[in-house]
Amino acid sequence: MDIKIENLKVLFDENRLQTRIIELANELNNLYKGEEVTVVCVLKGAVMFAVDLIKSLNMPVKIEFIRLSSYGSSVTTSGKVNAVDIRLPDLNGKNVLIIEDIVDTGLTAKFLLDFMNCNFNVKSLKFCSLLDKKVSRKVDIQPDYYGFEIDDKFVVGYGLDYDGYFRNLRYIGYKE
Ligand code: IMP
Ligand code: MG
Repeated sequence: MDIKIENLKVLFDENRLQTRIIELANELNNLYKGEEVTVVCVLKGAVMFAVDLIKSLNMPVKIEFIRLSSYGSSVTTSGKVNAVDIRLPDLNGKNVLIIEDIVDTGLTAKFLLDFMNCNFNVKSLKFCSLLDKKVSRKVDIQPDYYGFEIDDKFVVGYGLDYDGYFRNLRYIGYKE
């Protein structure tokens, strides 16, 4: 597959994304009720979503970044999750909120939840994804919070890439 910017169709424009992100942040503000949270942003895809989301959180927040990869340059997942950099501080006793761009097969989400539960005795663990491609699920896992459900199309923009490109777009689009 080859994706060109001029062939992209907008799925969620900037306004729609930002409106929904504020709604999500409000849900999270209600959940944590002022308790401190450590946000774990999964690089690279979730970076735009995570930075916008945390701006509307009203509790004390720390942010950590980990880097995973599963795609390479294709549009189907390799089925293996690569922990490129998963160094984290001690999260025992913390409220941990994992922020992802998209849950597709669910393998990455499962890997991360298992990793957290194996390595830390957290106070609470929640998973928040901007997008949820429920129809592509291969493992039985659902995000606790998500922005939008999408059908089985490959999307780019606002952090999501094709072969490393398009992460800088303000909108999420797909090839027509
Ligand atoms: P999963 O492990 O199959 O759930 O895939 C999760 C990862 O695959 C996400 O964190 C994304 O980085 C990537 N991914 C899945 N679907 C898409 C897509 O439509 N566009 C871009 N990246 C995607
Ligand atoms: Mg990702």
